[in-house]
Amino acid sequence: MKKTALITGASNGIGLELAKVHARKGDNLVLVARNKTKLEELQRELEEQYSIDVLAVEKDLSIKNAAQEVYDETNQKGIQIDFLVNNAGFGDYGMFYTNDWEKEQKMIELNITTLTQFTKLYLRDMMKRNSGKIMNVASTAAFQPGPMMAVYFATKAYVLHFSEAIANELKDKNITVTALCPGATESGFQAVASMEDSKLVKGKKLPSSRTVAQYGHRAMMKGKTVAIHGLINAILANSVRLMPRNIVTTITRSIQDKAN
Ligand SMILES: NC(=O)c1ccc[n+]([C@@H]2O[C@H](COP(=O)([O-])OP(=O)(O)OC[C@H]3O[C@@H](n4cnc5c(N)ncnc54)[C@H](OP(=O)(O)O)[C@@H]3O)[C@@H](O)[C@H]2O)c1
Repeated sequence: MKKTALITGASNGIGLELAKVHARKGDNLVLVARNKTKLEELQRELEEQYSIDVLAVEKDLSIKNAAQEVYDETNQKGIQIDFLVNNAGFGDYGMFYTNDWEKEQKMIELNITTLTQFTKLYLRDMMKRNSGKIMNVASTAAFQPGPMMAVYFATKAYVLHFSEAIANELKDKNITVTALCPGATESGFQAVASMEDSKLVKGKKLPSSRTVAQYGHRAMMKGKTVAIHGLINAILANSVRLMPRNIVTTITRSIQDKAN
């Protein structure tokens, strides 16, 4: 029997590529994002190419209880979610004292609250079947404080710690939780975060969303708890544990600053 993957933020970047990976494996899909036109284009393309069923759900996931509404819709349609991929997220570049609160509030709601609510709702159903896989897209930003993107880095630290904790709670079950931690990746992310001038990305050749999605899917299928994309990223993410925290924050600031 076909399995179904629910992917948030499937209209662009890593989420769109994750949708394609699942489609190639023959999984049915529930694709969630705000851009209805892009979702329906992808729905048509994947249904035709892979003979799968795709449900496109137009939803702003930064609004309270959006996850509950999507859950209710999949339930009413009798769709069982075997793979939950909490991918939708965004960042905002700049000093905390100048950045816009409304944008930050939406970021916290999307990156933290909606991800947590989705996990609770679908995990309870997975528990009844003792089967399922969850992928939460964190970031290498999760491993240290991030001056110039303070709120974003903190939301990703939440995603990492939350995912590791519940993965531990589920260790005797046939359910796995994977925190995918990409480094800077080519996608719409930099434009949305207004960070094209940051030293982290300016003039850099970044890995494609497709490469990161393929890596993330493999890690989820293996049930890996923390999946950091790229050897250098993995070394850096782990090395910060051995350094004084103020030095780590100072180095991160120098990487995050604007390029000249
Ligand atoms: N790219 C990187 O450098 C990088 C590095 C580490 C981690 N990540 C993480 O990877 C994940 C995917 O980002 P990406 O790089 O693929 O960025 P992206 O190309 O900007 O894609 C973000 C996706 O999230 C959706 N989204 C944004 N706000 C939403 C909202 N309010 N409601 C519903 N959907 C929303 C967007 O769809 P709509 O606009 O259609 O709603 C889009 O499909 C994020 O969690 C990000 O934090 C990215």
